[in-house]
Amino acid sequence: MSRTARQLVAGFAILVGVLVLGTGIASAHATVESSSPTDGESLAACLSCEVSVTFNEAVSTLSGGLSVLNADGNHVDTGTSHVTNSRTVVTNIDGTLADGTYVATYRVLSADGHPVSGSFLFGVGSGSLDRSALPGASGDRLWNIIGGISRSIMYLAALLAAGVAFFLAFIHDHSADRWRIVPVVRIGSIVALLSAIGIVMSQAALLTGKGASAVTDTNVLRDVLNQNLGWSLALLMIGLAGVHLSTDITNKIASQSLALYGGLAVTVSFAVWGHATELSPRVVSLIADAIHATAAALWLGGLVGLVMVLTLRNADSVRSTAGIIGRFSRMAFWSVIALAVAGLTLTITGSNASLHSLVTTTWGQLVLAKIGLTLLVVLIAAWNRRTLVPALTTPPQADADDAAEHAVRWATLLRTVRAEALILVVIVGLTALLVNTPPARTAAVTTTARVAITKRVDTGSVELTVDPAIVGRNTVEARYTDGTGQPLNVANSMTIEFSQPAAGLEPITRQVPSTGPGNFVIEGNELSIPGTWTVTIAVRTGDFTEQRTSFEVPVHR
Ligand code: HEM
Repeated sequence: MSRTARQLVAGFAILVGVLVLGTGIASAHATVESSSPTDGESLAACLSCEVSVTFNEAVSTLSGGLSVLNADGNHVDTGTSHVTNSRTVVTNIDGTLADGTYVATYRVLSADGHPVSGSFLFGVGSGSLDRSALPGASGDRLWNIIGGISRSIMYLAALLAAGVAFFLAFIHDHSADRWRIVPVVRIGSIVALLSAIGIVMSQAALLTGKGASAVTDTNVLRDVLNQNLGWSLALLMIGLAGVHLSTDITNKIASQSLALYGGLAVTVSFAVWGHATELSPRVVSLIADAIHATAAALWLGGLVGLVMVLTLRNADSVRSTAGIIGRFSRMAFWSVIALAVAGLTLTITGSNASLHSLVTTTWGQLVLAKIGLTLLVVLIAAWNRRTLVPALTTPPQADADDAAEHAVRWATLLRTVRAEALILVVIVGLTALLVNTPPARTAAVTTTARVAITKRVDTGSVELTVDPAIVGRNTVEARYTDGTGQPLNVANSMTIEFSQPAAGLEPITRQVPSTGPGNFVIEGNELSIPGTWTVTIAVRTGDFTEQRTSFEVPVHR
């Protein structure tokens, strides 16, 4: 292994190890908003009662779900759980619960593909709760770490395979030293493939809590792959096969096509699974993500290719190398612009353009660190481009001084390009953490922005929740209850009107069918600007009567 490769691998391993073990991988993206019973609550009695957990965003149960065990570890639920209102997981108790301590454990999949799990206790009767009944989370922590490390390795290996294949096909001069660079593509694609297996294993283990044995369960595997992750991995495999083959084929056009389209499949596969699929506006986020990852592959692969060329050749091969340096320099320039524009777009959609959330959330701080490091690389690259590249792309004069100066420039270019590549590798390591951290938009909102307002109406009360109550996609839910807190079947459908008179907006009216007794949920982008919105809900209670209730809802940027 060359010195550069050793440095890249060692730097990356240390970074990922320190970050993953030091900070832990935050797998939770949907967070628990409430549960029934609440954690630590003691119920007087439970006769076929319902246990539920409500999250701050949409979840699905797949192979997981919600289960309730008694202190001896035996199931007391009916064995099935389901999701209502897209955010609440519900299970029913089988018969009557004896006095004692019970553990409710949930395992769900967030809308962005991250498994979320946890447990809470409740009691029946007047005895004290037995806290030792709570299961430990060490198994999940291990699988979170395995998943995080696998994703880091997958990113680095796949970006290198795609980027170096492009370098060989379009930037390199096809001379004999290409065969010394080809192994990066081949090893990169195989390593990316193996790390993808690690990602699937960790998803299966986290979703079921059954550890490695979950991977041998075909139902679990089907659940794990039968979602965006499956599509993403399928594209990744096709792309990796393409870039691998591009290094075997002697026909130039065929080899270039495989490198180009294979590489694109690899980078687009990143966008198919992850935060971009849930950020708003979704199409903008998906396109920005694909462009960002493609530009990252071109830049990183190009730099690593160039480091290898400069290492394999010496300062005398300037004439043959000048073309490579020139082509790389032009490609890197446009890649950096595309990467920065797309990266900033993702930053805006991920944080809802809130500087505050960028500074206060882990996701935001990781993005700011990426921006700082990228600026550092850009500064080094700009200096190279202005000073070293023009001099290195013109052959030295015959005199010895000029040749010596040329050799110094060559060595300086090699050193600085190596430093640029190393910093990019560090950025890829940070990215693996970033994609495992709840985006600023969700993280900041969980603590600050969700709005819940309850009003009295003739028949009882109605609670309106707007989540996350920030500009963009929101879930608006109305729950009608009677005087004792039981759901009240008011009507089959509800009319909801969104208006912001201060901004001169025309009211937007929607018809919402009921999702259960007294329950109405609508998801959409109606709350499109910040400010105080008037949300009016109306249900028809008779042939000629309608019950209208208005709420003032603050919506943040
Ligand atoms: C201006 C500098 C940059 C900014 C603002 C930026 C921002 C972002 C953001 C916001 C995301 C989305 C994270 C998420 O899904 O939660 C992202 C993803 C990513 N970034 Fe960057 N980034 C920058 C530079 C770089 C560089 C230099 C590289 C590597 C050479 C890189 C590689 C990636 C990769 C591979 C992804 C993951 C794409 C995916 O899985 O969907 N970024 N970046």
